[in-house]
Amino acid sequence: MKSLYSILFLVIFSSVYYFVICQDVPSPRSKHTSALVGTRLYFFGGDNSPTFTSHEVWYLDLSSSFNISAPPWHSDVVMPVGYSFGTSCLSPIDNSTVFLIGGRTWIATSATTDYYSYTSSVFATRNEIQAVIDNNGKIFIFGGFNYNSSIILAYNDMNILDITNMTWSTLIQSQSVLTYIDYTATLLPNGLIVYIGGRSGSISNVSLIDMAQIQIFDTKSYTWSAKVMYTINIISDNNFT
Ligand SMILES: *[C@@H]1O[C@H](CO)[C@@H](O)[C@H](O)[C@H]1NC(C)=O
Ligand SMILES: *[C@@H]1O[C@H](CO)[C@@H](O)[C@H](O)[C@H]1NC(C)=O
Ligand SMILES: *[C@@H]1O[C@H](CO)[C@@H](O)[C@H](O)[C@H]1NC(C)=O
Ligand SMILES: *[C@@H]1O[C@H](CO)[C@@H](O)[C@H](O)[C@H]1NC(C)=O
Ligand SMILES: *[C@@H]1O[C@H](CO)[C@@H](O)[C@H](O)[C@H]1NC(C)=O
Repeated sequence: MKSLYSILFLVIFSSVYYFVICQDVPSPRSKHTSALVGTRLYFFGGDNSPTFTSHEVWYLDLSSSFNISAPPWHSDVVMPVGYSFGTSCLSPIDNSTVFLIGGRTWIATSATTDYYSYTSSVFATRNEIQAVIDNNGKIFIFGGFNYNSSIILAYNDMNILDITNMTWSTLIQSQSVLTYIDYTATLLPNGLIVYIGGRSGSISNVSLIDMAQIQIFDTKSYTWSAKVMYTINIISDNNFT
């Protein structure tokens, strides 16, 4: 396993600096990312291509009930860059720092023109991923697409960022583990990450993954296993080992 001493493909955003500016409704968007911070459900960026990639930060305050037909949106301090196609995790160490990982950052070059850049100097860029974070502050990021214009690839590696010392490491998987994008990733209390659905292949030949097959990564032993659908019953028994 190769240790990498460098930093996020991205932006670290601390809610410590947040303050409320106004209350309004965000414009329609997709490809944003969200994180629950205390009783605030935050949303970062998003895309309404080709019109804009947003640098906005919004949240819903869940501390009291509200009419879901008229959700009480609050806008917060904007990010320094537009952000889309990425993923986010809340730090369990301070419960207030949100890590935005991978995706695309957009930098305004003029009042009317933006361009997007990839911020990683460590890895090829990653998009269409889902990160999960464990209680010790390790963020697990599997696969993803590289939209590098020279060579577009999907990956099957597991990149791990330890937020306690901001150190990256990469596990290169055997070919039996598929390249994955657009999946869901769920960390179970027993330390297993369950990957369901998504797409696999290369940009020229992407196929949907069979929902009867799930891939499981053990965050304690750093090993993969594949399960078939019937084991879903075992998950609900909380006995998934
Ligand atoms: C919820 O909001 C909708 C849309 O504004 C409104 O029509 C409806 O009467 C509201 N319901 C309640 C219970 O306030
Ligand atoms: C963060 O939140 C978790 C879950 O609510 C809690 O167990 C933990 O004590 C919190 N940590 C801090 C530093 O507030
Ligand atoms: C894009 O691909 C080229 C050719 O493989 C490589 O040299 C370059 O580092 C890649 N850039 C990124 C941001 O992945
Ligand atoms: C970062 O912390 C982890 C967990 O404590 C440790 O295993 C790893 O060696 C540390 N890396 C560096 C570069 O200090
Ligand atoms: C596309 O991917 C599928 C699944 O991996 C494979 O069966 C098929 O042969 C591929 N088609 C081409 C044209 O490469």
